Amino acid sequence: MSGFFNSSIGRKVAMALSAFFLMFFLLQHFAINILSIFNPDVFNEVSHFMGTNPLVQYALQPVLIFGVVFHFVMGFVLELRNKKANGIKYAKNNGAANSSWMSRNMIYSGIAILAFVVLHFIDFWIPEINTKYIVGDMSGLHNGEFRYFHELVEKFENPLRVVAYVIAFVFLALHLLHGFTSAFQSMGATAGRKKTLQNIGKAYSIIIPLGFIVIALFHHFNH
Ligand code: HEM
Repeated sequence: MSGFFNSSIGRKVAMALSAFFLMFFLLQHFAINILSIFNPDVFNEVSHFMGTNPLVQYALQPVLIFGVVFHFVMGFVLELRNKKANGIKYAKNNGAANSSWMSRNMIYSGIAILAFVVLHFIDFWIPEINTKYIVGDMSGLHNGEFRYFHELVEKFENPLRVVAYVIAFVFLALHLLHGFTSAFQSMGATAGRKKTLQNIGKAYSIIIPLGFIVIALFHHFNH
């Protein structure tokens, strides 16, 4: 196993696998959060299920946290190794896309996303953990109603938070625009399907962050 992580290709494959996992998480995270625009009651029901289901809480959530930390740590390791290798860049055999501005700056967009994730955990995740596991209130209720929608809307009252989130989502789009195809490439999956994959990658990388921007702005201006 240590041999795997010591090889350049092993590290890239590990990076790609964690990236796929995070992109899948992001898709379901988006699907749930967009419900807050279209149907707050369903958003509340789904949030309560996800927040109290033992399988989600004690199996999926720890795997997710591990995936997030792993991706960041591995990203820094790859960056340092690439720097050391002097010019031998990550996702090397990528033709014209190789020299794109974004491919050289994955570490910077990554750091911006890391800063967002820290802020986002302080905003949402830590209060959740506090209510459920420290206060010990698993009911999901406040004044007899589900609290999730109300708590989410409250967070987007502050224009500074909305601006910080929107900037982070732009960085997320830039990170994904390169990362999506790069991850498939590290798995050797592009040959023959390059154009289709690139198009799916572009659509995903723009629609998901744009959708998150819409959620933040919608709640800021509508409540
Ligand atoms: C407008 C956009 C977003 C909203 C409204 C939102 C909302 C939330 C909420 C309510 C939680 C708490 C869930 C819980 O623990 O019960 C949460 C957790 C989390 N969010 Fe977001 N999120 C947004 C965007 C993002 C983005 C873009 C990312 C990743 C880059 C992200 C990553 C996470 C992670 C890793 C967690 C902790 C895991 C979890 O418990 O689900 N979120 N988010």
